[in-house]
Amino acid sequence: MIILGIETSCDETAAAIVQMKARLRNRAFSPTFEILSSVISSQVDIHAKTGGIVPEVAAREHIKNILPIIDQALKKASLDYHRIDVIAVTGGPGLITSLLVGAETAKVLAYTWNKPIIKVNHLEGHIYSNWLRAQDSGLKAPQFPLLALVVSGGHTELVLMKKHLDYQVIGQTRDDAAGEAFDKVAKLLGLGYPGGPIISQLAQKGKRDAFKLPRPMINENNFDFSFSGLKTAVLYLIKDRSKTKLPATRPLRIAKRVGRASYQLQANLCASFEQAAIDVLVEKTIKAAKKYKVKSVLLSGGVAANELLRESLKTKVKKELPASHFSLPTLQLCTDNAAMIAAAGYYHATYHGSEDWQKLSVDPNWELT
Ligand code: KG4
Ligand code: ZN
Repeated sequence: MIILGIETSCDETAAAIVQMKARLRNRAFSPTFEILSSVISSQVDIHAKTGGIVPEVAAREHIKNILPIIDQALKKASLDYHRIDVIAVTGGPGLITSLLVGAETAKVLAYTWNKPIIKVNHLEGHIYSNWLRAQDSGLKAPQFPLLALVVSGGHTELVLMKKHLDYQVIGQTRDDAAGEAFDKVAKLLGLGYPGGPIISQLAQKGKRDAFKLPRPMINENNFDFSFSGLKTAVLYLIKDRSKTKLPATRPLRIAKRVGRASYQLQANLCASFEQAAIDVLVEKTIKAAKKYKVKSVLLSGGVAANELLRESLKTKVKKELPASHFSLPTLQLCTDNAAMIAAAGYYHATYHGSEDWQKLSVDPNWELT
């Protein structure tokens, strides 16, 4: 099966061609995905100027880019559209104006090319990025029951799956998402957008115990998260001259000061914040994995690109759940892409069949369960 994936839920216009091949392994056929092409047009530079995404600007960029990106994906895969078996498109959650561009384009293509169409939840796409890894032979595909930690700019969820396409959200953030907290802290420090990659880079030069920051909800008897208090704690630290020796002016000033002391201070703040956020994510994931006795623990979403999180969760799973398998996507597949939408689309096509293009609609608040 050859799947065309289309993703426009936020600020990345993406198209990918993914082929599913059944390979014989240990006397059983196991699905193996091959990414024939994956093209992404990022709007990061545009949104960096405004310090965040302006929905109308994002939608206009998607409209400009969507057809050339799909065309490039077909050309890179050396495929004619006749070879596409199914079109998978993100139907939510996300920005309504952005989602509509991808969905309406997919519907037009389904109609004119006479192809089946499938709607995929963006978060299940992130989870299914873990199956794309199975293409590197030797790597084990995720085993059920599994626990997936989905950490992105808009979501932080712990999802239990007992079989394909079966989702039980057992924990989620009560306020800010993990990626959102990285973005907001970077903004407080005047570091730019998106905050995650900048903070984690600066954190490598900082001391992780330089500042005592809270680990919200870490010991509570549930699997929910809260990151807004952690962000506020960073804000108070920035303002608290007795601890940070910063000028009593607006926090943004500190990024503009160049001296070594200021740089080290920023690095220490980034490192202390990153450690606090990741401690909570790792601790709660391990607790849930133990409770539900899962066979695999999966990491996914934009924040899964964070090296400290990747290493910490991997080490902790190995130590505390030695019988469990740990899976994480390659760096390119952590942030938004269309290959993950195609992978999830394959399972929808196999288990549920396609949808009627005339009835396909988007839902900006589409929940996984
Ligand atoms: O999944 P994604 O590409 O888009 C959404 O679905 O939201 O995730 C984007 C988020 C942003 O908040 C970004 O700051 C964060 O992922 N991110 C990171 C890193 N790379 C991206 N956060 C922490 N460390 C990183 N290395
Ligand atoms: Zn995403």
